Amino acid sequence: MEDDGQRRVLVAQRQPADRQFTSRFLELLGGYQVHEAADGMSMIKGLKNKPDLIVADTHESAQFPRAIEIIKRNKAFEETPIVVYSEERHLVSSFAAKGIQGFIIKPAAPAVLLGKLWKVLGGESAREATASSFSERFQADLDDIEDLPTLPSVFSEVDRLCKDPDIGADELSKVIETDPSITLKLLNLANSAFFGFSRRIKTVHEAISLLGNKTVKNAILNIAVYEATKDLATSAGLDKKEFWVHAAGVGSVARFLCKKLSIDRDEAFTAGIVHDTGKIILDSLYADFYKDVLKRVAENDVSIYEAEEEVIGLTHATIGQELAESWNLGPELSAAIAHHHQPGRADGDEEIACLVHVGDAVARRMGVGSGGDSKVPEIDPEVLKKLSISTDQLSEWDSEIQEAVDRDRSVLSILQS
Ligand SMILES: [Fe+2]
Ligand SMILES: [Fe+2]
Repeated sequence: MEDDGQRRVLVAQRQPADRQFTSRFLELLGGYQVHEAADGMSMIKGLKNKPDLIVADTHESAQFPRAIEIIKRNKAFEETPIVVYSEERHLVSSFAAKGIQGFIIKPAAPAVLLGKLWKVLGGESAREATASSFSERFQADLDDIEDLPTLPSVFSEVDRLCKDPDIGADELSKVIETDPSITLKLLNLANSAFFGFSRRIKTVHEAISLLGNKTVKNAILNIAVYEATKDLATSAGLDKKEFWVHAAGVGSVARFLCKKLSIDRDEAFTAGIVHDTGKIILDSLYADFYKDVLKRVAENDVSIYEAEEEVIGLTHATIGQELAESWNLGPELSAAIAHHHQPGRADGDEEIACLVHVGDAVARRMGVGSGGDSKVPEIDPEVLKKLSISTDQLSEWDSEIQEAVDRDRSVLSILQS
């Protein structure tokens, strides 16, 4: 076939009206030369036109999924990008595994459809294409996915009540006590070395009176996040035991810094606990992608954050932020999750992102657990400036930090009990 420079697209859609609409749209707005296929067989026959791109829907009865598999197995066409354009968003993950270059959920705005096809045709690398399909897949999954972890309902209720500054211990304790497992862990936390009370706290009411609503809410959130993520079905192999030691370690350092620098941040420890939650989600819900991330970390001198960017184009910070929003964790924790690698980018709450940023680097330097790689990140000098500390000062605090980390391990053993 003569190459006139015009891009060729094969549009494989079952419904004639749909197919013609997509075709006219691509011809008129995109300037593509379009060939059409009404079923899987004519889709395969349409390969003789040497399309630069195939846009296919997912109708089983028209045998499009089968045709996609056949095309991907054919050496001559395995590189031909295929974008699936379908309303069947539950099929995103099975198609992503087949090596397609994108998934557009119908109905898509014309600009989205054209933009996506242009991107695939524009010579971007396979990795970038995978990343963009991943991004869409993630967005689609977040809306629809049923196995996205949910926090125990008692947390949402406590969170709602705590928005009222006048809420009393009576009302709050009644709600907490509806969950016996959380009640027990909360009492164990209240009596742990983490809080260091000399007398025994026997009731939730007493714990609330002594610790205050906000501290109790954060303690419940620590329990809730651990509970919600501990039994996820699949895993690409992230070491969860070391992950939690790291998370608690970061929390301890952040909490230590608050005490040392007289910063009033009740959520500092919890910010450490939740800061890398995005890794657990990626490791489980996107295990097929995350295996490659972990392999890259093991074989190359890169951080897990860099490997996530390289392999899937999205980091645990971004995914974690989405999760924080779906869990309604509030702006402070959301900022800690989203910006702990680049606190300078936090447009709202920079301080908590700075505390976790330093906590992350210090915990890694001191070998407290593992965040999934063995790289010790550099602390951003701007962050040190903002917190009015120096690296020398941090090193001088090493033994005190170690003590805080050891003491706060009690929290982890309670969460895991
Ligand atoms: Fe991180
Ligand atoms: Fe981390």
